[in-house]
Amino acid sequence: MSLALNTKHLSSFINEEEYKAIYPQVEAAHKTLEAKNGPGSDFLGWMYLPRDYDKEEFERIKAAAAKIREDSDVLVVAGIGGSYLGARAVIEAVKGMYHNELDNGLKIYFCGNSISPTYLNDIITLCKGKRFSINVISKSGTTTETSLAFRVLRGMMERRYGKEAAERIYCTTDRARGTLKSLADREGWQTFVIPDDVGGRYSVLTAVGLLPMAVAGIDIDAVLAGAQKAMTELDNDDFSHNPCYRYAALRNILLRRGKAIEIYASYEPRFTQMGEWLKQLYGESEGKDGKGLFPASVAFTTDLHSMGQFIQDGSRNLFETVIDFISPAADLTVEEDPENLDGLNFLSGMAMRQINRRAMQGTILAHTRGGVPNLVLEVPAINEEEYGYMVYFFMLACGISGYLLGVNPFDQPGVEAYKKNMFALLGKPGYE
Ligand code: PA5
Repeated sequence: MSLALNTKHLSSFINEEEYKAIYPQVEAAHKTLEAKNGPGSDFLGWMYLPRDYDKEEFERIKAAAAKIREDSDVLVVAGIGGSYLGARAVIEAVKGMYHNELDNGLKIYFCGNSISPTYLNDIITLCKGKRFSINVISKSGTTTETSLAFRVLRGMMERRYGKEAAERIYCTTDRARGTLKSLADREGWQTFVIPDDVGGRYSVLTAVGLLPMAVAGIDIDAVLAGAQKAMTELDNDDFSHNPCYRYAALRNILLRRGKAIEIYASYEPRFTQMGEWLKQLYGESEGKDGKGLFPASVAFTTDLHSMGQFIQDGSRNLFETVIDFISPAADLTVEEDPENLDGLNFLSGMAMRQINRRAMQGTILAHTRGGVPNLVLEVPAINEEEYGYMVYFFMLACGISGYLLGVNPFDQPGVEAYKKNMFALLGKPGYE
């Protein structure tokens, strides 16, 4: 098993009886997912995707990525929510936050995830004088933020490349429906499919995530291999062998105890975007019908100097899920300094990895004593396979957890409210 759940810091908060009491509900949630007869069951395609993915399209993704790496200096990815967060999270986790600066080759920038003209203008500036391609990603094909950015970028591309622009636009969207699909067919852009039965926030293992990842030089075979391993290992309702179901159960037990905020914490800044992906996955899946845990994320030790005070000492309605990467991607050793003016010689000869671990252990102890339950998910390393495993783990846990909560974890009715108001204010026909 790649990922392990360490619950030793929970013993003063949750007892074995509570586990036992919730177990029949977990079993029922598992059966509902397997039988595909629960709410949102039309959107369970992600469950077997690591095995049943479209092999022909997978090869096309690799070929398109190779072409983009060959003929472009920049790939601009336009998408929002589930249509960009997963790819960005995996790229930054595996290649590092400064992958664009550290890699000599192609740069990847994300846009279409806001309506800020300032942000989009920065992306345009970054493309100036560079050979660029666009990957526009939208399942509905009508999302305002993405469509707007794409309209601007497409205009820029057509002015620059003329007819050749069609060779540089890659469109990831619905198989048959939507404006984007119609446009792509008319203009002859290469298209990739978001399967009907996979919702946005569960789509990271489709072309939505895989094409930008492959362009970034991520080994997408290894990502899928990790996800497939998770799919096989986690497909059982035996609590003692299923950290995923235990995690889903624990967060529901804690919620029922009034711990309404879950904070995802990591001691690796590379995990920051994964925190964003998790917030979207859990926030949009569970926050409905007046229910749900509010997901938050922090990067430690950085945020111990901002949110640390609150977590230690503020309202006691929180718990933390710590993602502990056992082996960091790189390490450094502290050198001895004969003068020791900074007083750090007590750390001489120590690996920074060890210092970071001590910081984690000390913080978990302090927060737990302060009344904040801590769950720890131990991940052996930061690489493609572990990330594939981890994203599948969290998606499955989200499905089980949503059913335990009594909501449909696969819809998002609440996101329409702001759109209706915005369209009315903008005078969109039909919204007056
Ligand atoms: O999870 C979801 O369904 C959403 O976050 C969508 O991914 C997001 O709203 C973008 O939608 P679309 O891909 O249709 O542009």
